[in-house]
Amino acid sequence: MRQSSLVVVANRLPIDDSVAPDGACEWRRSPGGLVSALHPLLRHTPATWVGWAGGTGPAPDLPDIDGVRMHSVPLSGDDLRDHYEGFANATLWPIYHDAVEQPQHHRRWWDAYLRVNQRFAEATAQVAEPGAVVWVQDYHLQLVPGLLRTLRPDLRIGFFLHVPFPPPELFMQLPRRAELLRGMLGADLVGFQRAQAAHNFAQLVTKVLGLPATDRRIGIDDRVVRIGAFPVSIDTVEMAALADRPDVADRARRLRHDLGSPDQVILSVDRMDYTKGIEQRLKAYSELLAGGHVKVRDTVLVQVAVPSRERVSQYQILRDRVEREVGRINGEFGRVGEPAIHYLTQPFDRAELAALYRVADVMAVTPLRDGMNLVAKEYVAARVDDTGALLLSEFAGAAAELPQAYLVNPHDLEGLKQGLLAAVRADPADVRERMRSMRAYLHEHDIRAWARSYLSTLDQSGSMLAHLGGG
Ligand code: ADP
Ligand code: G6P
Repeated sequence: MRQSSLVVVANRLPIDDSVAPDGACEWRRSPGGLVSALHPLLRHTPATWVGWAGGTGPAPDLPDIDGVRMHSVPLSGDDLRDHYEGFANATLWPIYHDAVEQPQHHRRWWDAYLRVNQRFAEATAQVAEPGAVVWVQDYHLQLVPGLLRTLRPDLRIGFFLHVPFPPPELFMQLPRRAELLRGMLGADLVGFQRAQAAHNFAQLVTKVLGLPATDRRIGIDDRVVRIGAFPVSIDTVEMAALADRPDVADRARRLRHDLGSPDQVILSVDRMDYTKGIEQRLKAYSELLAGGHVKVRDTVLVQVAVPSRERVSQYQILRDRVEREVGRINGEFGRVGEPAIHYLTQPFDRAELAALYRVADVMAVTPLRDGMNLVAKEYVAARVDDTGALLLSEFAGAAAELPQAYLVNPHDLEGLKQGLLAAVRADPADVRERMRSMRAYLHEHDIRAWARSYLSTLDQSGSMLAHLGGG
């Protein structure tokens, strides 16, 4: 077994198997924020990525991807149902996102969560060199730090949560709250997107486990666990370079033409998820059309909503509702050859996404709750000419870093309508000013800065940082 000095552990590998039109199996990059952040970061580093390849049954043998070793962990049909779709995405995901949908609780889901976390910990223990740095990611694997420390006390273990960490009154609903907290405390450093999340975590470990905690340090047994905020980011240089490519600029021009050369293109790009506020956004747009504030001929909405977690009932219900609403709005306000909403559920490659970002005069990112929202950062990075208005929810982690966006509360329908109108009608000089400062901020706070800040806190010798130079 080949071993690495840096091991990243995430439920997902940066690839997904999908069926090509001719029925063959093909691999493509999986949509989602975690993969978008880590994939460009690890490229050309001597790291191993431990994760799930997206299917059920035996783990496929995968080639290195962009110089990174892929170590796949198998999930059975039962694991998929009870760990991934069940405990991770029907219990933890809604609780961590303000319970905007009702969290479900089933005892056998916990058994699966424990079993799969144990499998990930064992796989990681095999591929980590003596004294290696292991970086465990996200809510699917909260028990891995604790389990791994028992198996391999020689490792330096980090944990990073990409999603929000909820206030105590919500987390306290979890029947297995103590085990989840103890699992995370197996790490040497527990990182969150926002300082408020670290504060919530510190409060909980004192309340549930009776441990001494500040917003920076927690004492457990004879160790100190550090905690803190490390807002994740993107490869801004890569996105800007992509958006600046002549073929991408051409593609953007063609897209605008195909959209009927409207004055304003509003774009939204989301996984089809109830946290993203898609229904609220459609309602706001439809009321603006109904009130005559915007006209389909001048202002079109492009909604990209790639299906996600498709067997989880709350996701099925959402998709049905969104599609019914898109149909209703197009039926009511569209004309032949001129739909009000251009609705796309396909996964796109990075160049096509960059072309979409280039064509969007307004980017509407209005989640009800989001750990960060990397789409917002991708849009800013892609606006190489400093134009474009970002309409951003106050409830996205990104809002704390991009206060120059047009900020809205997506729970307030009137506010959302006013925000959309303000962005559509904004003074170009104001738009440019805001975009310029957001671009300057992101240039400094890119994915490498994130990794540097996290890994230097985790591994104070700094030896791991040397490995991240190659991308
Ligand atoms: P989340 O982490 O909830 O998925 P983010 O906005 O942080 O939300 O990240 C979503 C990522 O998925 C972004 O990098 C975005 O470019 C990518 N993505 C979203 N929709 C698509 C799509 N249709 N095709 C390809 N990538 C997509
Ligand atoms: C969010 C989560 C990631 C997850 C991604 C896509 O970004 O924080 O852990 O990978 O959504 O979701 P999926 O269920 O397809 O992995």
